[in-house]
Amino acid sequence: MRDATLLVTGGRTHPDEPHLVNPAVHRGSTVLFPSFERWQQRGRKGTFAYGRQGTPTTFALQDAFSALEGADGCRVAASGKASITVTLKALTKAGDHILVTDNVYSPSRRYCDDVLARFGVETTYFPPMIGADIKTLMRPNTRLVFVESPGSQTFEVQDIPAIAAVARTHGAWTIMDNTWATPLFFKPYDHGVDVTMHAGTKYVVGHSDAMMGLITWKGDEVGGLVERGVNDLGAPASPDDCWLALRGLRTMGVRLRHHEQAALEIARWLAARPEVATVLHPALPTCPGHDVFKRDFQGSSGLFSFVLHHVDERALAALFDGLELFGMGASWGGYESLLIPAPPYRTAAAWDAKGPILRMHVGLEDTADLIADLEAGFARLRAAA
Ligand SMILES: Cc1ncc(COP(=O)(O)O)c(C=O)c1O
Repeated sequence: MRDATLLVTGGRTHPDEPHLVNPAVHRGSTVLFPSFERWQQRGRKGTFAYGRQGTPTTFALQDAFSALEGADGCRVAASGKASITVTLKALTKAGDHILVTDNVYSPSRRYCDDVLARFGVETTYFPPMIGADIKTLMRPNTRLVFVESPGSQTFEVQDIPAIAAVARTHGAWTIMDNTWATPLFFKPYDHGVDVTMHAGTKYVVGHSDAMMGLITWKGDEVGGLVERGVNDLGAPASPDDCWLALRGLRTMGVRLRHHEQAALEIARWLAARPEVATVLHPALPTCPGHDVFKRDFQGSSGLFSFVLHHVDERALAALFDGLELFGMGASWGGYESLLIPAPPYRTAAAWDAKGPILRMHVGLEDTADLIADLEAGFARLRAAA
């Protein structure tokens, strides 16, 4: 089945009796077993034993998402952040070294620096455009390489096949934050990735009304470790949020195509503005890694950055204050447009832009209205400069 069909049919049960299209919400903790024999079998893989390990609503979402990503398995987590931290914890131990892209989502970075470091795991950040040269950073104890492509704030697209090939040669896993592209626009398991983490909070949920993390994997060994890590943490997403995520998944394809077209239109409009120094959108040639994007991705989502020519904070405030459609909010992937200042926080690769970097999420509003909102903002910025 192709993706559009998987989005519609994934995770749905097809009993013989008349039934609702979508699985119902199953809430609860205790599961009762009808016989001693079934009780004795309860620990077996795939059996439904206790609410913390998920309910039929959780399993429906996991099945649908796993099929979409072409994975061997999927587990939910309480947020995108939780999907990342539980994976890092599950796959590392004291004495390990990990390689992390310099443009990784900043709370992921904080977890490596603040938590993993305390437990004896050393992190080296690598320049996002490193490609196969990552071999120069590999050590005998390098356990995994963590990519996020395109990366947060600055949107460099990493050469994941090249990075993953080196990692594999050195016996390390490649784990990827695939939130931006979703499984619709990047197929991680065709490119050598072993594990993915997703903030389902973004495009999967799609309506900014639930927190959701999703982890998928390819391979029994790595999958076993991830599943154990998720169980050990004991903090699953709620069945209600799984139900919202499953509902969001049904329309993710059409929403993403709209986000893509609208974001491209606005990114091109921004690129022609005198106030804008550069646009960091993977589908535009000005974005580092654009060629890799064209080679490996099936589409682009609604999130990108742009850099302004130097302006002072007063002028920047004038741009933001008065925006009617673009909200200032630290998320993305919902139906609404957002704009925030997004200073880079890298340490391995230089960032020498003179002006501020702004991150935009283009929602589902009419693009002409969004452009008018930005045009008015630029007029305020010029007047205040
Ligand atoms: C790239 C990326 N990964 C992970 C997360 C974390 O997701 P959540 O907010 O659901 O914890 C975010 C959130 O903004 C993100 O942008």
